[in-house]
Amino acid sequence: MGAQSALILLLSLTWRESTRCNGLTVDPPDHLVAVDPGHLGLLEITWSPPASWIDVPDCQKLYQLEYFNTYEHSWTAIRTPRESYRAQFDLMKDIRVRVYTLLRGPCTNGTTVKSMNYTELVQKPPSAGVAGTAVKDFVCVYHNMEYMECNWKRSPRIPANSQQRLYFWHKDLEQTEECPKYILSGGVRSGCNFTGRTLPDFTDINFCINGSSAKGLLEPAFTTLQIQNQVKPGTTEKLHLQSRPDGQLEARWERPVGKVPGHCLEWEVEHSQESPDGKITSEQILTEQMNLTLSGTLGNERHCFRVRSKLHKYCVDRAIWSEWSRPTCYPEMKEVEPEPEWDKVPFYVYVAAAIIGMLMLALCMVAVLKRGSRLEKKLDPLLTTLFARNPVLTVVEA
Ligand SMILES: *[C@@H]1O[C@H](CO)[C@@H](O)[C@H](O)[C@H]1NC(C)=O
Ligand SMILES: *[C@@H]1O[C@H](CO)[C@@H](O)[C@H](O)[C@H]1NC(C)=O
Ligand SMILES: *[C@@H]1O[C@H](CO)[C@@H](O)[C@H](O)[C@H]1NC(C)=O
Ligand SMILES: *[C@@H]1O[C@H](CO)[C@@H](O)[C@H](O)[C@H]1NC(C)=O
Ligand SMILES: *[C@@H]1O[C@H](CO)[C@@H](O)[C@H](O)[C@H]1NC(C)=O
Repeated sequence: MGAQSALILLLSLTWRESTRCNGLTVDPPDHLVAVDPGHLGLLEITWSPPASWIDVPDCQKLYQLEYFNTYEHSWTAIRTPRESYRAQFDLMKDIRVRVYTLLRGPCTNGTTVKSMNYTELVQKPPSAGVAGTAVKDFVCVYHNMEYMECNWKRSPRIPANSQQRLYFWHKDLEQTEECPKYILSGGVRSGCNFTGRTLPDFTDINFCINGSSAKGLLEPAFTTLQIQNQVKPGTTEKLHLQSRPDGQLEARWERPVGKVPGHCLEWEVEHSQESPDGKITSEQILTEQMNLTLSGTLGNERHCFRVRSKLHKYCVDRAIWSEWSRPTCYPEMKEVEPEPEWDKVPFYVYVAAAIIGMLMLALCMVAVLKRGSRLEKKLDPLLTTLFARNPVLTVVEA
């Protein structure tokens, strides 16, 4: 395929073209056929040179192949010197292919001679299955690039007790394979979990969901996709807010753990601001950094943030947003005092705390023992005995 595509000359290249030059004409090719090797839509198209063709010296023979791309709903054209080409089709739609013969080289005096007409192939889909039973809304999500899940909706016309099956194929497989693990909902198959199975990226993966029922075969449905376009990153777990010395609020977050390439991620940050009178305003900010500093200094509003991510379009063609992270607010709703950092508390603070603690304990003991009498009287001797051991405090006492 690689060498073949290297030889493909795109139509957009501007060549002087004529259908008749120096009296030289050429017929369209013969024997145009599309063969299905059972790869769920990747067809092998072959043709042969026109029967009238006689080798002309200094003449390069090329073909221009045009096919209706059923997935993009447009014609695609390629030029190739070969007599075969592989293209992807939706097997449930008409297959339409046209091929022209082209001549180029000194024989045509530098121009490109194209056959007046083309050879055309129109192939109707095989009328297979009970009408209207094909699955709908086939969607695949590659969760955090760990496992892919595909889901579909059942057509209401599907007869009861019918069994659906999913098959897939990509270029590294000899033959189609069946879904490794079906997802059930309400006792019927509604999806496929590819679990830990590695599927190649940047390669078409073809799917077919077919099945059988008491009323006959179910109408098959075909799809093709590339997994890098189905990535849904994991949810961001860590989002921190911090007020900076200059009075600005900074939000920082971490990317989901896993294989999703960090440099490909873009982020959407939702910032909502609640003023003391309860008015809430919110804004969405797109960024490629994993931090954000609010412009303006902090007042007495409350700021809440949540983030989500997706792969940037410079890495993939399509992307799916992750779930939003849980919101983090500043100040936090519950006024929970942050835990003191013990290692940073100076030693003398511990000593003072210990002394105060002992003092309190002693006071309580005295209060309990000599309940009923006046407290002040018992305080003095107690203090004297306690503080007698500490010269500094004794001075104070004196
Ligand atoms: C070939 O092209 C050149 C210029 O493009 C022209 O002068 C010449 O007459 C052409 N020869 C023939 C045989 O058409
Ligand atoms: C061109 O070819 C197509 C099919 O190969 C045919 O239907 C059509 O009549 C041809 N047109 C001309 C002008 O010969
Ligand atoms: C699919 O497989 C993955 C990995 O084995 C698992 O984490 C996930 O929960 C599965 N999904 C369903 C819907 O069973
Ligand atoms: C479904 O498709 C697979 C793969 O093409 C094929 O092997 C199988 O026979 C089909 N099953 C039915 C019931 O059509
Ligand atoms: C985000 O972090 C980077 C590196 O830590 C730093 O260079 C950049 O200034 C920060 N941006 C904002 C908006 O705080």
